[in-house]
Amino acid sequence: MRHFLDLKDFSTEALQAMLDDGLRMKAAKKSGEVLELPLSGKTVAMIFEKPSTRTRISFEVGIKQLGGTPLALSSTDLQLGRGESVEDTARVLSRYVDAIIIRCYKHDTLLTLAKNATVPVINALTQRSHPCQLMADLMTMIEYHGTLTGQTVAWLGDGNNVAVSWIEAAVRFGFQLRIGGPKSYAPPTDLLTWARANGGDVILTNDVYIAIDKVQTVVTDVWVSMGTDEGSRRVDFKPYQVNAKLMNAAADDAIFMHCLPAWRGLEVTAEVIDGPQSAVFDEAENRLHAQKAVLAWCFADN
Ligand code: CP
Ligand code: NVA
Repeated sequence: MRHFLDLKDFSTEALQAMLDDGLRMKAAKKSGEVLELPLSGKTVAMIFEKPSTRTRISFEVGIKQLGGTPLALSSTDLQLGRGESVEDTARVLSRYVDAIIIRCYKHDTLLTLAKNATVPVINALTQRSHPCQLMADLMTMIEYHGTLTGQTVAWLGDGNNVAVSWIEAAVRFGFQLRIGGPKSYAPPTDLLTWARANGGDVILTNDVYIAIDKVQTVVTDVWVSMGTDEGSRRVDFKPYQVNAKLMNAAADDAIFMHCLPAWRGLEVTAEVIDGPQSAVFDEAENRLHAQKAVLAWCFADN
């Protein structure tokens, strides 16, 4: 079954092929070329347990552009929201639709859905990871820097779901990832162990200047992810705010990325996110093109 659950499930070559396809589809769309319709006659269910602007809309538009029919479903409208099992939901939906996209709280919900579905399942964000975001982010890095291998990236702040997918990407594409944040918010230990065992160049530091020194890409995310308590996060993450002074310590041609939504004045200042080094809206646009490539892969014959 062609599930898209996490980047670490794929070889570098398979991921690179998807990125190439996304870049190709983006160029074709912009030049007005008629695109192939690999989802013709296919219906794709999209289940959202949490809010979404980019993921939901880019998938819905992308499915339509590839000839398919999207079905956006809130988990509260489904019996799933009243306690019907994930297993039964997977089995039933598989009888109606050709693929299932899910954004859910627990990563286990995604895995259980994938285990019991007989159609492809795509991870649209869990508490653990956000691989679709990374496909767009990698596309954006390629567009700005021409390559992934050998690059240097600083991730600043929370070791959250997006950070997890950045780690997996760093391992697969051979770039250095410096995670700058308080130790108590570090990404999961099992993943860091996996990254090191697989030759990843992933550095953890609580010194924001070690993290950002001369890097080519600076990335951050919200300090409080959906479903997370704020607690003392505003205080704990304050030293990691991406502001103009901090950006000065990165490479001269460094870009700034953020998966959005962003909170200006918290994890990033308006000066940076709305400034000349910001790539955030190209990054957001690339969700559409990267996910079309993921969808095409899910429906490709072996
Ligand atoms: N970056 C991202 O996944 O945005 P949404 O929550 O709006 O989908
Ligand atoms: N880390 C954020 C990403 C939102 C797209 C969250 O989970 O809320």
